[in-house]
Amino acid sequence: MKRIVLGVSAGIAAYKSVLLLRLLREAGHHVDVIPTRNVANFVGNATWEALSGNPVTSNVFDAVDSVNHVRLGQQADLVMVVPATADVMAKAAAGIADDLLTGTLLATRAPVVMAPAMHTEMWQHQATVANVQTLRDRGVRVIEPASGRLTGKDSGPGRLPEPDEIFAAIQDLLADPVLAGTKVLITAGGTREPLDPVRFLGNRSSGRQGVALAQAARDAGAEVTLIATHLEVPAPHGVRLVHASSALELREAVFDCAEGQDVLIMNAAVADFRPARIENSKIKKRDEHSAPVIELVRNPDILAELVGARSRNPELPPFIVGFAAETGDEQGTVLEYGRAKLNRKGCEMLVVNEVGASLTFGQETNSIQVLFAGRADSVQASGSKLEVARVVIEQISNATKSHAAVTK
Ligand code: CTP
Repeated sequence: MKRIVLGVSAGIAAYKSVLLLRLLREAGHHVDVIPTRNVANFVGNATWEALSGNPVTSNVFDAVDSVNHVRLGQQADLVMVVPATADVMAKAAAGIADDLLTGTLLATRAPVVMAPAMHTEMWQHQATVANVQTLRDRGVRVIEPASGRLTGKDSGPGRLPEPDEIFAAIQDLLADPVLAGTKVLITAGGTREPLDPVRFLGNRSSGRQGVALAQAARDAGAEVTLIATHLEVPAPHGVRLVHASSALELREAVFDCAEGQDVLIMNAAVADFRPARIENSKIKKRDEHSAPVIELVRNPDILAELVGARSRNPELPPFIVGFAAETGDEQGTVLEYGRAKLNRKGCEMLVVNEVGASLTFGQETNSIQVLFAGRADSVQASGSKLEVARVVIEQISNATKSHAAVTK
């Protein structure tokens, strides 16, 4: 049984939430419904109370003694907003808390799912697009609206998916935490190799996949430490955050944090080379035409080094996951290169994705193959970076169980 807050904002699709409430209750969950004030124009509180079996209010000033605007969010295992109007998403994105639902969204640390419903014009408006992006970057699962008949005669994207589809889309969040009690160390983002006080050599990694892995591991009940190099998205709440910038700093942070961890996920895009010298002052143009030649030296391979160090230090993570950013060519496919890399690095699992200027880096979606040491099969997944992250976490959970059984 989970404690679920079902927020309902004022759209005609509120009637579909009644059916969703039924499905949640029939599955045995405790549901507190929080409608926004105007929902009463569509569905009244008597319906929510009768079907949830709990008192219902939109008002922060009802039942003040139990501090509902904080308590409901704090106690929840999952907060849903169905339907989510453009207005409630804008408020959530801006951190406005002017009623019980928006206050709950600010107070909760539980996973948040929103199912938007609105007219196509509103859904496609730049303001809504930006707000949805902000919410997704913060880890809110915004379910894509369906396309079809809207309130009037018009049709297009903006329709609330059917209640059973929404119910299916949250099943993983209602499942038992598969990594409860597991300590997971994750590196994310791209390293920056300093050249002089203002310049660096960097790479295209946005950190989205690593942040999504941290979210998915946290949602699966793991105790997560995230070592963030350069990230273009905010780190998720509920994880321990450690900062590192260059490959050498990252190496130090990984070795500092790794002892006692059960799993290490090396998702960071680590620069293979760094400038041989870091100039103390900005490199100047000396004359009209010449340009400096920058000598590079190899960076340590952190992943391979850590795998090697395990034979001397039993405190290091028994399960290590590498990521391989690969491009195929005449000599081999992405998967063939992945298998070779898995053997070379000596880790337990390798997540392979194809990269290129318009693939993976900075994109919202990803397509991966998961390879395992000593196993010929692979697992394919594609979708949003969070969906892909959930598959990776599930595979880690399955593989660590059989790994522990073999090594016992
Ligand atoms: N990695 C690392 N230290 C490095 C380079 C990479 O720990 N100096 C890790 C990455 O975090 C990733 C894995 O190794 O988990 C594979 O990274 P990738 O760049 O694809 O592989 P490389 O070892 O750099 O191989 P190559 O660039 O030759 O394909």
